[in-house]
Amino acid sequence: MDLEKALNQTVKDLPPSGIRRFFDLAAEMDDVISLGVGEPDFDTPWHIREAGIHSIEQGKTFYTPNRGLTSLRKEICAYQKRRFNLAYDPEKNVIVTVGGSEAIDICLRAIIEEGDEVIMMSPGYVAYEPGIRLAKGKPVLVELKQENQFKLTADELAAAITPKTKAILLNYPSNPTGGVMTYEDYAKIVPLIKEHELLVISDEIYAELSYDVPFCSPANFPEIKDQCIVISGFSKAFAMTGWRLGYLLAHETLCEQMNKIHQYVIMSAPTAAQYAAIEAMRHGDTDVEIMRQSYQMRRNFIVNGFNQLGLETFMPQGAFYIFPCIKSTGMNSEEFCEKLLASQRVACVPGSAFGKAGDGYVRVSYAYSIEQIKEALERIKAFLDTLK
Ligand SMILES: Cc1ncc(COP(=O)(O)O)c(C=O)c1O
Repeated sequence: MDLEKALNQTVKDLPPSGIRRFFDLAAEMDDVISLGVGEPDFDTPWHIREAGIHSIEQGKTFYTPNRGLTSLRKEICAYQKRRFNLAYDPEKNVIVTVGGSEAIDICLRAIIEEGDEVIMMSPGYVAYEPGIRLAKGKPVLVELKQENQFKLTADELAAAITPKTKAILLNYPSNPTGGVMTYEDYAKIVPLIKEHELLVISDEIYAELSYDVPFCSPANFPEIKDQCIVISGFSKAFAMTGWRLGYLLAHETLCEQMNKIHQYVIMSAPTAAQYAAIEAMRHGDTDVEIMRQSYQMRRNFIVNGFNQLGLETFMPQGAFYIFPCIKSTGMNSEEFCEKLLASQRVACVPGSAFGKAGDGYVRVSYAYSIEQIKEALERIKAFLDTLK
């Protein structure tokens, strides 16, 4: 049998993730400093791990309700209200998912009809475009500009809207740029979202990691709150990537349909992770604040370091990435990253892995120790010296 022919064409057409390719290359080399991975370098705080372990010891090893433990949904709502002033009902508006990743997937599949357009940002997180395509939607890319600190402007949004636009997918603080939209920035695009009745998928997985301005969600605007699907989770702020837990918050009409996909495909998110997450929501604020301050200190250090090397780097206001411009080297992103890896064994991710608009930039994660960052900066300096 010709197995190639048996496969779905949309899946075959998807390119493999540009991030992984670099790690596979780096994994085969010795003495590599990787600034590539998008995950916290902290262990999950011990009291959170203990809550997960304790739940297993108590024999809590069964499925939970599809939407997640009631007690966790209550804690999520209390947390969102306390931290971000977002009010949701634990019974109607919450689905606990397998990471923010599952939340993105079920949300796209629940809303997209074949041919619907979804506006997304370029550069943007690598899973969005494939997710839209797998749901048979059409991604419409808005090329963000460094001079706008990679924020979406009202003019850019207006130019991307067509009668087929179903939704807009936002992610602030952003992976890969670290850009943040403030209340004032959102206020400029909210009237367009309302006028054109667009759904807003807001991936707020880095909400807690905002440095200079308070975090704002589009759902903070009452006039569009019902149109917003907020996606969040535990991976980044609570250093819980491997627990695979996230959630989404949305109007009950949307939740009901999204929950059907979740119900049939996943059943319920991992049970021990849900118990750990209750502890994270109740008693994790101090841990998050300590990690946030540590990232902020590293951000200041690394941005300064890159600018001193002559690689223009905008000061990101959230997440744990910088997005230096490498156009001055005359290389494209792939070439820069490949040569840097081969000659100095420093792994970064080419900006082009996050979309065409990311070419000319590299994504550097600073969720690494200051010692590693220092060493990486020295090696990058040596690399740049060879280009002179
Ligand atoms: C913007 C963004 N959204 C979602 C995710 C997925 O996170 P999770 O581990 O919750 O599935 C990531 C992970 O890198 C991310 O950067």
